[in-house]
Amino acid sequence: MMKKFMSMMMCMVLVVGLTACGGASSTSGSENEIEQIQAKGEIVMATSPDYPPFEFPLADGTVVGFDISIAEAIAAELGVELRVESIDFDGLLPALSTKKVDMVIAGLSSDEKRQQSFGLSDSYYESGYAFLVKAGDEAKYADIEAVKAASVVVQKGSVQEAYANDQGMTQLTSLPKMNDMIQYLETGRAEVVIVDSIVAETYVGLGDYVIAQEVTEGSEGGNVIAVHKEHEALLTKVNEIIATLEANGQLEQFMVEALELQGQQ
Ligand code: ARG
Repeated sequence: MMKKFMSMMMCMVLVVGLTACGGASSTSGSENEIEQIQAKGEIVMATSPDYPPFEFPLADGTVVGFDISIAEAIAAELGVELRVESIDFDGLLPALSTKKVDMVIAGLSSDEKRQQSFGLSDSYYESGYAFLVKAGDEAKYADIEAVKAASVVVQKGSVQEAYANDQGMTQLTSLPKMNDMIQYLETGRAEVVIVDSIVAETYVGLGDYVIAQEVTEGSEGGNVIAVHKEHEALLTKVNEIIATLEANGQLEQFMVEALELQGQQ
């Protein structure tokens, strides 16, 4: 009886020992992504700088905005430099998949499909979708049925593109860049542009545009930061940083600064 008990104990010690060993070797054997970023001395953020106030270029080409301020705070916290890689929106997540970049911060909305393939942070901003139209057209497109029958333009690869398809909008054009979308509206090639509400609000201030309607459907997850699916340590760190920035009011301040900078453009 005693002998049996002893061998059982031995077994347990062995199992526990092995588990502990396995755990230890997996962390000490290879550096985690945060240590690798720190060894490189820089964190690479990919964005599509066509989406004020999230990210947009100044006259001299420098990319600024809400997302850039957040990225700078992340870089500072990790003690590294920030490098901003500009890529068209539909190329951002592919660049993250192949680990060409460390994170995507691009006014990116959380959705189920992205959640399956990437590490998505907690939301750092909440915004619905808005239907931006030319001033004077707002009554015409106040009803979703009228929008469905209109020529609509969305950003390629965006959640608004998926939304428009789900709604059965058939006169739909998907373009890689926000500037071209606005150009379509300006020249009458499209009647409605669907973008994140805060972006639409920014454009209202920039030209003869108004918001005909806003929807919350599909935007419930908010705007998030994406990292590689395996980079759980980085995701945890990013979430901690977002929580701190939110708690100390810096997040709000970053938005105020971004809107001010945009206003000066
Ligand atoms: N929120 C939308 C999405 O995630 C559009 C984001 C577009 N961002 C940009 N920087 N152009 O699909």
